[in-house]
Amino acid sequence: MNKYLVIGNPIAHSLSPLLHNYWFKKYKFLDSIYEKKKVEKKDLKKIVEQIKNDEIKGVNVTVPFKREIFDLIDTAPHEVQFTKSVNTLVKENDKVVGYNTDQEGFEISLEENEWDFKNKKVFIIGAGGVTPSILSSFIRADGAEKIYLSNRTRSKAEELKKFWDKAIDFYQMNKDTIEIIDWGEKSELCDLIINTTSVGLTRDEKLDFDFSDYNNNKEALFYDLIYNPKETNFLKEARIRENKTMNGKMMFLWQAHLAFKKWTGVSPKIDQEVIKLLD
Ligand SMILES: NC(=O)c1ccc[n+]([C@@H]2O[C@H](COP(=O)([O-])OP(=O)(O)OC[C@H]3O[C@@H](n4cnc5c(N)ncnc54)[C@H](OP(=O)(O)O)[C@@H]3O)[C@@H](O)[C@H]2O)c1
Repeated sequence: MNKYLVIGNPIAHSLSPLLHNYWFKKYKFLDSIYEKKKVEKKDLKKIVEQIKNDEIKGVNVTVPFKREIFDLIDTAPHEVQFTKSVNTLVKENDKVVGYNTDQEGFEISLEENEWDFKNKKVFIIGAGGVTPSILSSFIRADGAEKIYLSNRTRSKAEELKKFWDKAIDFYQMNKDTIEIIDWGEKSELCDLIINTTSVGLTRDEKLDFDFSDYNNNKEALFYDLIYNPKETNFLKEARIRENKTMNGKMMFLWQAHLAFKKWTGVSPKIDQEVIKLLD
């Protein structure tokens, strides 16, 4: 049996097993199975060893280990060495390689919505494992005009800014492009407001920000990377304010599509059937 896992903590919310097992069946990988496993930081080393020993064929990494796992793998492509955020593990030429499919998944999800990354004002809430992938989507030639960044632990947002300011320099973007906002404070009105925190995974959780300035703003897009629950309080309040909303479902599907392709060589179809499967 070829065993695949998604590891994280919490992990109950993950729909990865449902999705990958559906694709394994559809594409006739009948000797493959995908499971979820709640792990602690101390378990990560063993998981990497199990990939090396062929006990596990492939792994997805989720909250809160995307950064930690980077230090345990053998190698990673250039862009992952930059973001230090890993969500997909696979053995290639006897080495455990750490990939990141979140960034491409995020970009495809917005492009499908005809979102143009150019000259936008963006407010990114959070500075955890996935945030470098999101930040990096806006830092490029013809990238964002302004990026506001806020995290409960301010020092983590500052670290990210310090690091990404070098890339800002490289792309000759305005050196003040990234600005830190104190937790719970307002930024100027933005085109896109993204929740990259895990606040909302548990139904009653709520981010402590006042977005009332966006009342009746039908252009602003509120994007929550969380896909389960489908509508977090962040999105519910945005819907009531009549803002545009988007959850993390399409990003999730695309990052899974890219991981599945790395493991099996097959590009699984993202069609209405698979979109409905996650409802
Ligand atoms: N749709 C997708 O495909 C996709 C892909 C990747 C991730 N995600 C989602 O993105 C979220 C973050 O993932 P991650 O890997 O970055 O997680 P992570 O590394 O654990 O980071 C968690 C982030 O949430 C913040 N946070 C946690 N509890 C908080 C609280 N009570 N109040 C305020 N802030 C809090 C943390 O702030 P501190 O630094 O202050 O602790 C940190 O910024 C998760 O919900 C995950 O499911 C979705």
